[in-house]
Amino acid sequence: MKLKDRVAIVTGASRGIGRAIAAGFAKEGANVVVAARSANQKHERLPGTIYETAEEVEKHGRRALPVQCDVTDENSVQAMVDAALKEFGRIDILVNNAGVAFYFPVVETPLRKWEIVIDVNLKGVFLCSKAVLSSMIERRSGSIINISSLAADERDEGTVPTGVAYAVAKAAVDRFTWGLATEVGKHNIAVNCIKPKNVVSTEGMRFWVPEKDRQGWEPPDRMVKCAVFLAAQHAGSVTGTVATDHELCAWHGL
Ligand SMILES: NC(=O)c1ccc[n+]([C@@H]2O[C@H](COP(=O)([O-])OP(=O)(O)OC[C@H]3O[C@@H](n4cnc5c(N)ncnc54)[C@H](OP(=O)(O)O)[C@@H]3O)[C@@H](O)[C@H]2O)c1
Repeated sequence: MKLKDRVAIVTGASRGIGRAIAAGFAKEGANVVVAARSANQKHERLPGTIYETAEEVEKHGRRALPVQCDVTDENSVQAMVDAALKEFGRIDILVNNAGVAFYFPVVETPLRKWEIVIDVNLKGVFLCSKAVLSSMIERRSGSIINISSLAADERDEGTVPTGVAYAVAKAAVDRFTWGLATEVGKHNIAVNCIKPKNVVSTEGMRFWVPEKDRQGWEPPDRMVKCAVFLAAQHAGSVTGTVATDHELCAWHGL
């Protein structure tokens, strides 16, 4: 087992890539803090709650701590991290996965939508990273993994347009990744970023995109492999990397 007895926080773990990473970590022996807002299913076409993911973690014989958390709210993030430290005594891994996108051309983007997209995708990464760092620095050990997107690098003209707010937030997450990696390398903490090369079939994506437009979509398996690899490796070996799941799999033989 690659992550035996490690403690991981996965944000946005009520469904999608976050849920798959939480289960993948548990399969490799980690105990998992399952952080997201959904305690109950609110929409019939958008399944997934923190309790369902927690059950999946426990099926692998590991401990789960489901915590309702809004990553845009500093108090909520701090309460989630405090609960994790109280339950497990330490945090080895943080996966900043929570994300949202709404498509609007800039000229039609309501300010509130702009703020939500920037806040969940970028401010959430800052708040969660900041909240875990003091305990990681104290223990001189840790791995932070950010989930970004090729929307940061490419023109928004695929079958799933995501809009400029999302692209800007993810581009900033890429920059945050290597900026923070440079700051905390001396404390033996790795910070890396994974982007899906192809669209990953998740509850969120299936909610938004009609079935006819789903060619070439992939399951989250490569994302899980990459997250396990980055979480398990020694902090000094891979850090400050921003790469796609396909690249990481090719480079590291995953
Ligand atoms: N799927 C893809 O093809 C793809 C491609 C590129 C990048 N990504 C990135 O991968 C990550 C996961 O995407 P996905 O497709 O798995 O999305 P998804 O199925 O829509 O799941 C998104 C997750 O984020 C959580 N979330 C949203 N707002 C939150 C908030 N304020 N606080 C806490 N959690 C929040 C949701 O939980 P609650 O609603 O329960 O809070 C949910 O668990 C995102 O960062 C996304 O940008 C995905």
